[in-house]
Amino acid sequence: MNIGEIRDSARNRMKGFCNVCKECNGVYCSGKVPGMGGAGTGNSMKRNFEMLSKVKLNLKTIHNTVNPDTSVELWGMKLGLPLIGAPVTGSEINMGGYLTEEEYCKNVVKGCLMADTLAMIGDSGNPDFYLSGLDAIKDNNGKGIAIIKPRENKKIIENIKKAEQSGALAVGIDIDGAGLVTMALLGQPVGPKSKEDLIEIVKSTTLPVILKGIMSVEEAKLAVEVGAKAIVVSNHGGRVLDDALSSVDVLPEIAQAVKGKIIIMSDGSVRDGKDIFKYIALGADYVLSARPLIWGAIGSGEEGVKQYINHMKNGLYQTMILTGANDIKSIDNKMIKLT
Ligand SMILES: Cc1cc2nc3c(=O)[nH]c(=O)nc-3n(C[C@H](O)[C@H](O)[C@H](O)COP(=O)(O)O)c2cc1C
Repeated sequence: MNIGEIRDSARNRMKGFCNVCKECNGVYCSGKVPGMGGAGTGNSMKRNFEMLSKVKLNLKTIHNTVNPDTSVELWGMKLGLPLIGAPVTGSEINMGGYLTEEEYCKNVVKGCLMADTLAMIGDSGNPDFYLSGLDAIKDNNGKGIAIIKPRENKKIIENIKKAEQSGALAVGIDIDGAGLVTMALLGQPVGPKSKEDLIEIVKSTTLPVILKGIMSVEEAKLAVEVGAKAIVVSNHGGRVLDDALSSVDVLPEIAQAVKGKIIIMSDGSVRDGKDIFKYIALGADYVLSARPLIWGAIGSGEEGVKQYINHMKNGLYQTMILTGANDIKSIDNKMIKLT
């Protein structure tokens, strides 16, 4: 299947949960949480799309970049491009249930590896979903990252131990899941974390710890202080707080404050290779993408995930030629303009 066919197939199989719109702008799916959209008015997801669209590329063609290198390295693993599959859970309630949770996790973890990169797996109100993700990581020799909800510390540390047993490369917490009242209704309370809580978590493991959902310079600096190895600048695809800022709004100032002191990952509305380029130019070291990998997995299984990522890689490669970026490290903010 080509990308168009994968998208058509996903649209059919998602039965209205996602329209796989030409522009994934958060309008069709606004308020669909659970579902594929953004919370409330959908404004946070819409802002992700709008702000990224305002980042424009500087076309440059008098230079020597003919065969740019899109590869990077993360914690000893070589990746073909600086894109990582974002953690996603809830195949049935969010995506329409075409795949079981196990199938979804397997397709994404395997598909990412087939495309020379890594996936993160998530955690949710149904604790079995986290285990499905860990199984997929274990089946692939630990090549994956486990992201845990901001549960009570004792539970987080238990889940970190399980991730260690699966051989995971790193663990993290989507700390922005702090307000998910649905989790409390399921008897699994989540909430904000204190600095002491985070220090305890970081000290409980030798694995790198990632804090996902950091949206301010102040909290990025705190992440460095508590010993986290990476942050994900993210508003959770617009799904946790209505009318939130987008990553594009805050990433440049966060990068200015902590670049080089901690790994910076970021996400929101990454749909193709030029979007990866924009995020790197804004200061990210790695970029995450969620919804396109869902389309890939539902549209055509692990092969669909692989093809979607390869499609993004080609787009990134083209963008690097047309902006004069020889490798990922040479992408900088002079190659873009925020309009
Ligand atoms: C259906 C769905 C489920 C998600 N589940 C999780 C999750 O369990 N844990 C988490 O950290 N993020 C979760 N996210 C957020 C993504 O990891 C990611 O931050 C966000 O969707 C990125 O934006 P994008 O979809 O525009 O690429 C989910 C997103 C979607 C769309």
